[in-house]
Amino acid sequence: MESSTGAAAGRPAQGRRGAASFRRDPLAYLGAEFDGTRELWRSASGRLCVVGPDAVREVLGNRRGMFVETSDFFHTRAGVFGPRAAQVDIGRGARALMRRRLDAGRAGLPGLVRDRLVPVSRWPDAGNLLVRAHLADVLLRPDAPEPLRRAVDAVVERAVLAGARDRHSTASRLLFRRRVMRVLATEIRARRAARADEPHDLLDVVVSGGGPTAPPGDLAEVYLSFLFATVGSVGFALGWAVHLVGTHPGTEKAEPEWIVREALRLWPVAWLFTRKPSGAHDLAGVAVGPDDDVDVCSYLTHRHPLHWDRPDEFVPGRWAAPPGDPAFIPFGYGPHSCAGATVTMALLEDLVRIITSDFRLSVTAAGSGPHLGPALAPPRFTARLSDRTDSPGGR
Ligand code: HEM
Repeated sequence: MESSTGAAAGRPAQGRRGAASFRRDPLAYLGAEFDGTRELWRSASGRLCVVGPDAVREVLGNRRGMFVETSDFFHTRAGVFGPRAAQVDIGRGARALMRRRLDAGRAGLPGLVRDRLVPVSRWPDAGNLLVRAHLADVLLRPDAPEPLRRAVDAVVERAVLAGARDRHSTASRLLFRRRVMRVLATEIRARRAARADEPHDLLDVVVSGGGPTAPPGDLAEVYLSFLFATVGSVGFALGWAVHLVGTHPGTEKAEPEWIVREALRLWPVAWLFTRKPSGAHDLAGVAVGPDDDVDVCSYLTHRHPLHWDRPDEFVPGRWAAPPGDPAFIPFGYGPHSCAGATVTMALLEDLVRIITSDFRLSVTAAGSGPHLGPALAPPRFTARLSDRTDSPGGR
């Protein structure tokens, strides 16, 4: 294990160069640095990269209280949205609302898949737009004002879909963001004054969980986190599952749960989480302090050769006997692990079951690699779905 003093000493120039290359393509950068054995290391970018499951649990579990207590989800421009009780309330409320919607809408899923994906669909956008359609009433209740509805649709088009941000200049993104925040803040004030008895959509969940004094701008940011998690992350995870099954003939026969888990292992949509140490301490042999940026890289954890057999291959069958204490953190770990994990898995499994049971799937790849943004999105590809004529409804 490298000591932090030893690693940092004498290479400030490399650190600056490293930081620039890290920003350009962090996934390739960290992948090239990883030697396949380490728990963690101080990257030439200057950041600390954590990949071994023990160190991951130490950082994300934060049992010793040595890291600033928050998840990336509740990070706002002003710092951390809080207090913690409000975060927990909001997470629970969102999960309950989604579960109700998924239960009520389950029977309509096969029809939605048919409408949206048959015969040809272009991915990854097709996955995002399908999830948006299915969760439309969870994102915004049907009676939401038109300007708000337009603003949320525009956020999906301009910021959630893969590559959308790159199509706009920084200045245009800034102006757009200001406009969206204004519309959201106006609605948040109106809903606060109206005091709904029970939440009808995620914005209600955020407003009621945030309490009467939370700044509307902070609540708007938390609402946007939900928009990215649902339409963005769930849509991308579906895209990976479809892409992998479509490019690995025979795997469509595997259990949908195994397919989803294996897709999330190989291509974890939430591929990097960041934490700040709250004080100087020793992390698995490396000295860290409050100035350090600590990155947990689930992408490398999930491909760690000491913890996975054939780590770079798509093998859904490995989940027939899941590892007891896995190096598997697609939804994080510890107190801040994903509040939406169980509902997300249920929805993804339902969708994968419909796609692999009712249809023959073929995939033509158009892009070369993943699309790397705050989330790890699949490359562009085209999927063709045709009815199974041999055994309708069966696999
Ligand atoms: C494929 C889809 C999703 C993935 C991969 C994902 C992943 C994650 C990860 C890795 C974290 C922990 C982040 C950290 O520790 O910094 C997290 C937190 C969170 N997620 Fe998700 N998520 C997904 C979908 C959702 C959905 C649909 C919801 C809405 C119900 C949701 C709500 C949350 C919340 C509220 C937190 C913060 C938990 C806390 O700090 O207490 N996520 N998610």
